Amino acid sequence: MESLLVRLSQLVTDFAEIAEIDINPLVIFENRVIAVDARVMLRPSAVEAPLHLIISPYPNQYEEEIEIKGAGRLTVRPIRPEDAPLLEEMFNALSPMSIYYRFFSPMKHLPHHMLARFTQIDYDRDVAMVAISCTKGTEKMLGVSRVISQSNRKNAEFAVLVADQWHGKGIGAALLKRCLDIARTRNIEKIHGFVLSGNVKMLALARKMGFTIKQQPGTGEYECTLDLSGAGYGHMAG
Ligand SMILES: CC(C)(COP(=O)(O)OP(=O)(O)OC[C@H]1O[C@@H](n2cnc3c(N)ncnc32)[C@H](O)[C@@H]1OP(=O)(O)O)[C@@H](O)C(=O)NCCC(=O)NCCS
Repeated sequence: MESLLVRLSQLVTDFAEIAEIDINPLVIFENRVIAVDARVMLRPSAVEAPLHLIISPYPNQYEEEIEIKGAGRLTVRPIRPEDAPLLEEMFNALSPMSIYYRFFSPMKHLPHHMLARFTQIDYDRDVAMVAISCTKGTEKMLGVSRVISQSNRKNAEFAVLVADQWHGKGIGAALLKRCLDIARTRNIEKIHGFVLSGNVKMLALARKMGFTIKQQPGTGEYECTLDLSGAGYGHMAG
């Protein structure tokens, strides 16, 4: 019965056109399940699966393997709630500078509510991709990048963070690029983020991705903006 319910759920997740399924009677006899009679009603759907669901499922279509020189094969995939211990472990090993550049404050640990907010995301609104290495069955989070939609769903804010030990290998660029590509398929038009003036790596990365960088008057910050709807997106500067 359990397996039948899981399979039925998978079916309606994969096909937005299913309006109704009626199995009657369903006979369970010893370890056999028999659908004696079944009817499926279809109708055209205005949206593609899985966008027809009220709560978006885990978007496993975004999972991919990438090869990073000096880090080997990494899995890049959307973050999951069960990644909280991996994210916490990555945070605890960060340098104070990386923490400051990412969170704009000198945090000693990641509070529980932030850990929950960062890992339990609404897949329909937000994109958060992690780079995971796996050595002898032990997973390690090397980086995370996210694009958080604003209420109009046209504008979004980006963030990216790579464990210090793995800086400069292309992980930040790969994660951010993946998030931006996904954001573009979701019709997000403009991405922005603030970067502290001393953060040369992030400013260089933003420039490379084609962001426009403007100093914020009276603050030590730069605002980086990228027009995803423009024809210019997709051509990274060298
Ligand atoms: C900024 C950060 C995400 C970059 O990630 P990364 O994996 O080290 O970056 P990459 O290796 O992908 O490099 C991307 C580009 O950044 C620039 N860059 C990387 N290391 C650099 C360095 N030491 N000095 C100057 N520029 C550098 C280069 O332009 C590089 O492109 P290139 O290698 O083709 O020249 C990472 O340094 C980090 O996590 N910093 C702390 C948190 C932070 O600042 N987040 C941004 C605020 S949202």
